[in-house]
Amino acid sequence: LINSLIMQQPFPPLKNDRLIRVAKGLKTDKLPVWIMRQAGRYLPEFQELRREYSFFEICQTPKLACEATLMPLKRFNLDAAIIFSDILVIPQALGMTVEMQPGVGPVLPKPLTIENMKMLQVQGAVSRLQYVGDAITTTRYALKGEVPLFGFSGAPWTLMGYMIEGGGSKTMSKAKKWLYCHPEASKQLLDILTEVITEFLLLQIEHGAQIVQVFDSSAEYLNRQLYFKYCLPYLRKIAYNVKRRIRDTKMDVPLVIFAKGAHFCLEEMESLGYDVVGIDWTLDPEKVGNLFRDKNVTLQGNLDPCALYAPKEELIKMTMQMIKQFGTDRLIVNLGHGIYPDADVEAVKTFVDAVHAIELK
Ligand code: CP3
Repeated sequence: LINSLIMQQPFPPLKNDRLIRVAKGLKTDKLPVWIMRQAGRYLPEFQELRREYSFFEICQTPKLACEATLMPLKRFNLDAAIIFSDILVIPQALGMTVEMQPGVGPVLPKPLTIENMKMLQVQGAVSRLQYVGDAITTTRYALKGEVPLFGFSGAPWTLMGYMIEGGGSKTMSKAKKWLYCHPEASKQLLDILTEVITEFLLLQIEHGAQIVQVFDSSAEYLNRQLYFKYCLPYLRKIAYNVKRRIRDTKMDVPLVIFAKGAHFCLEEMESLGYDVVGIDWTLDPEKVGNLFRDKNVTLQGNLDPCALYAPKEELIKMTMQMIKQFGTDRLIVNLGHGIYPDADVEAVKTFVDAVHAIELK
């Protein structure tokens, strides 16, 4: 399937390949920079689009998803685009209802229980995500090769958390109760999610994603023991199987893992099979830079999203300091978590331009 798609769809050749090169450990003229959640509510043009369409309408309509994806690229000199979608499209494809409530966030009105788990519609789940593949293909053409396009997925544990809690949570205690009281059911669910995530990432790659990121945004609720048992094996399996399945194609698509708050397993991130390790804003770039020096991975991060509130000169100073502390070798500059809805559009421009002001030798 992968090869046949390539034959049918000669996408425009990539012009700015900085981010892909750095992900693979190659040299570039400047550091690549992009922003997690760069297509979102801090952009007035996105707010306007949202007045006309619901969140999932935008996700499910390739033309609209493409439009939202391109919005930040029209304003800023970003080195990558990320497809407009959400991590919760997987629970949706498994048959769960997901609502995006303004001011609340995602709500799953019928959360997963041990009893209703067998109702999950695993069969055909990935084919119900075809619209994400179509959005990616549409966007690849619209990008005209300007910058690479990210695909993404939630990680098994993070999706499990939302499915059991029925939305976000301050503690993830219901989902963690599964881990402590129902280890077999937990593993069964994590296995299902691992399988769907793997196929979903492959679908995105087949349809034109040039790099893919796995978001384990709820890693911070676990500890080393739980993360070893319920996350690392699944994350490793996803990377291994995605790499294995694309090995025979000419697509050497880099994989990124971003596990928010997984400081207790930082060293383990290097050996999971991902090319890039996302670093969240709570970690010290100097310590992380030293820890990963001469390791075979690229780092990505990690400015505090709230640093965008600082005065312009201060923001530039903090950005420079962070880069100096990480070291410019194998670094993709980003925030250390998604950008907030009240971020200042001008600050984003300051941040991006500050990164590109640095000429690498
Ligand atoms: O990065 C991008 O610009 C691409 C699109 C993208 C969205 N969500 C769009 C979105 C991506 C990559 C995501 C990932 C995502 N979604 C994560 C992982 C990243 C992270 O921040 O940890 C998580 C945990 C979710 C789940 C989710 N979706 C939450 C918690 C919320 C509500 C809070 C919030 O930040 O908005 C969403 C809604 C959402 N996803 C919006 C957008 C643009 C806003 C919804 C709206 O327009 O009403």
